[in-house]
Amino acid sequence: MIRGTLPCGVRIVSTGSAVPEAELTNKDLEKILDTSDEWIHQRTGITSRRISDPAKEGTFTLARDAVRVAIERAGWKADDLDLLICASCTQEMTCPSISCRIAGELGATRAGAFDLVAACSGFVYAMNVADSLIRSGRHRRIGVVGADAMSTAVDYTDRAVSILFGDAAGAAMLEADPDPSRGCIHQTLGADGSDWRTLYMPRRSQEIPPGEENNPIRLGYLRMHGREVFRFAVTKFREVIEEALTATKLTPAQVSQFICHQSNRRIIESAIEKIGLPPEKVHINIDRFGNSSAGSVGLCLDQLWQAGKIPKGQPMILVAFGGGLTWASGVWNV
Ligand code: ACO
Repeated sequence: MIRGTLPCGVRIVSTGSAVPEAELTNKDLEKILDTSDEWIHQRTGITSRRISDPAKEGTFTLARDAVRVAIERAGWKADDLDLLICASCTQEMTCPSISCRIAGELGATRAGAFDLVAACSGFVYAMNVADSLIRSGRHRRIGVVGADAMSTAVDYTDRAVSILFGDAAGAAMLEADPDPSRGCIHQTLGADGSDWRTLYMPRRSQEIPPGEENNPIRLGYLRMHGREVFRFAVTKFREVIEEALTATKLTPAQVSQFICHQSNRRIIESAIEKIGLPPEKVHINIDRFGNSSAGSVGLCLDQLWQAGKIPKGQPMILVAFGGGLTWASGVWNV
């Protein structure tokens, strides 16, 4: 706790990620669903995704492994953390939280811990919350992780939803920095719950909205109205990125990377085209990892960070949308 100290900024000290070893390719899906590699690739840009082995992997293990890697790369001990935030919508248990279990296993004995649910927007939500908590002076070192084992949340008899998703976790270690201009200089946390029925995961039949009673997807699995989500995502991606650029008076050329949630290659390409983003500044890994929900932006961040593509002194933009419906963006002075 450093309550009452001078205004501070936030430094991203390190990143980490974890994905399961096993791949599920479009060709594999062709064997269990009425679909084709060509259809999936053309509509989504996905060729393959990583899928957990339920005997030994899941959201918790992916999140824990991503945090462990990021802590090691920071040169910290788990005990150095003041707080751990895990964003996920596929927790194996809601009590205890994933973040509590990670803190327990890694030995983060001083850290507070909580989970945050904002579906695919979760990692960007959590980064923004962590930045604000550090700036408040109440916490000095915060670990953030976004993790989802979407393979546990999709019904593999449903070809419209299951082809999109994969499993991953991405983490970042954040620390107070004496330079207040460092860290998240503009952020959006958005939600419009009036449209929640376009993307939801009901656990009880009482939660199923009128008109959906005959949907064959089983309870506990994700239901999605793909076209509605697609339309929302294309509009929201554009709005949120344009708003971030306007608010910070940045041009796309001044930004090092636009790190977008990997929902569908066509959604990302539409933003590139409509806003005129330089394609080489928009990382795409959906072809190999699918949509890993809260894991997606953190995984991209880690891949870019390790590749040295996020230089100090140049801002980057994180942007995501997801179930809720929710959306979030953060412009980071790295
Ligand atoms: N293989 C073959 N055909 C299929 C498949 C499949 N896997 N899935 C659907 N189809 C068929 C449909 O049955 C339909 O057939 P019909 O014309 O005979 O009725 C046809 O293909 C077109 O279906 P649409 O749903 O209109 O296909 P669309 O072009 O919209 O693509 C998709 C579907 C890929 C799901 C798209 O709508 C999409 O990407 N939406 C956004 C999803 C998303 O981004 N979700 C992220 C949020 S996730 C979160 O927050 C947890």
